[in-house]
Amino acid sequence: MATNVALKPAGAKRSREVTDELRALVRKELPEVDEIKNADLRAKVIEAWALALARSSYKSIREIPPEGAPGSMVLTRGDQTDHLRGVTRLAMKMAEEMQEHYPELKIDRDIVIAGGLCHDVGKCWEFDPENRKKWEGSPRTAGLPSVRHPAYGAHICFTVGLPEEIAHIATAHSGEGELLVRSLENTIINYADHAFWWILVSGNMIKPESIPKKH
Ligand SMILES: [Fe+2]
Repeated sequence: MATNVALKPAGAKRSREVTDELRALVRKELPEVDEIKNADLRAKVIEAWALALARSSYKSIREIPPEGAPGSMVLTRGDQTDHLRGVTRLAMKMAEEMQEHYPELKIDRDIVIAGGLCHDVGKCWEFDPENRKKWEGSPRTAGLPSVRHPAYGAHICFTVGLPEEIAHIATAHSGEGELLVRSLENTIINYADHAFWWILVSGNMIKPESIPKKH
């Protein structure tokens, strides 16, 4: 039986080249990337965001709204870089403090930074207005969303050759992580991510109507 599914790669229509200009923009939007000591890891973090953007309708990370998931945990101001940078910086501080008190803890600082910056790289897919329109118009065709940002983020991480430690943070920093054992660095990112949103809820910086009812 012939399929009625249009068999073309997802997002192919709007896919653009990854250019040095786009890489430079990512570096400017996420300055914490320069804190990563390993040059290969640093380059691949930039590549991950540049590729995710190039395969979306977003031209920069700043265009992505400051939300935890589409329509959920909506910040009263800012953009997605505030979240990525905030989580990364919180995680760096948590790692530093814990390491100072317990020097025997084996926290890989580069993985914490790279993981913080990449944990939501999949939002380019889940938040993409073109995808949202398509999924909301026909939720029973490919799902709503077809793939959440953690899974798409892992796909991007593996595609650009990032280590599995970073793909693990992308795919399991969120609720998906309840299905497996989180790494040490991912545990830090998970708590930093959670702290970021809930401190802002408590400070009245999240639009009340966007706070999930279960909370
Ligand atoms: Fe996040």
